[in-house]
Amino acid sequence: MDGGRPQQGVPNAKAFRSAPAVQALLIQAISFALVLVVAYAMSALTNNQLSIGGAAILQGVVAASISRWRDMAAWWAPIQLLFPMAAIIVPAMHLPTWIFLVAFILLLGLFWTTFRTQVPYYPSTPAVWEAVAALLPRERSVRCIDIGSGFGGFILRMSALRPESVFTGIEVAPLPWLVSALRAATGRSNARFVRGNYERLDLADFDVVFAYLSPAAMPSLWRKASAEMRPGTLLLSCEFDIPGIEPHIVKRASKDTAPLYGWRF
Ligand SMILES: C[S@@+](CC[C@H](N)C(=O)[O-])C[C@H]1O[C@@H](n2cnc3c(N)ncnc32)[C@H](O)[C@@H]1O
Repeated sequence: MDGGRPQQGVPNAKAFRSAPAVQALLIQAISFALVLVVAYAMSALTNNQLSIGGAAILQGVVAASISRWRDMAAWWAPIQLLFPMAAIIVPAMHLPTWIFLVAFILLLGLFWTTFRTQVPYYPSTPAVWEAVAALLPRERSVRCIDIGSGFGGFILRMSALRPESVFTGIEVAPLPWLVSALRAATGRSNARFVRGNYERLDLADFDVVFAYLSPAAMPSLWRKASAEMRPGTLLLSCEFDIPGIEPHIVKRASKDTAPLYGWRF
């Protein structure tokens, strides 16, 4: 399955069709059609009716299997499996309608353009932050950015460890950006948080670029970093390497923690 992202600023029909969320919806539609055929065949051949619950389970299993076969990211299989069952169970719970609006606003604020960037929110751990801190040059102040700073944990910690340096987080999703900016303000941190897309930044402005993105984002990040980062600077990526580009640094705090990869320019 095409895991690539659309070209920056050039939305087009092909990019829309290949977005994983759109592919997932198409797979559900195909699975629904297949289950309808099975239900009709069952009723015609055996005189037995497929129950709504049985149809939802079957549709989920078919959709999850197609998603695996199409090599979609691993998290799509459970989503595809549970989606038809949730579509039946949740309306039957007769929840107040405002709950759906609040849930929608919170999820939109958190995930924002994840359907396009293919980078959902998940935080890095303090063990990774310590590994990064050990790699920062000690003899001078540094300008460091977290491209996709989430709720700001990494940047706030770095700023506390190295108060003479300048730490910036940029985050595309409004909710985590707002929380990180409030954390910096209330914690009297020097850290800066900007809301926006890192693709529009000039990475030449930074000595250290930290990324915790996703495999889908790494090839375009590498193109941007190698075009913009200055000699002597450092690109760090938590968990995800860059296909075909040997890292200069590979650090793993323990066998349970994600590796930290580094490329020196
Ligand atoms: C895996 S989380 C990492 C959060 C944080 N850096 C950490 O280490 O805990 C990735 C974050 O990047 C954000 N993101 C994805 N694409 C982005 C982009 N193009 N520009 C800015 N932020 C982006 C997502 O919204 C998400 O919050």
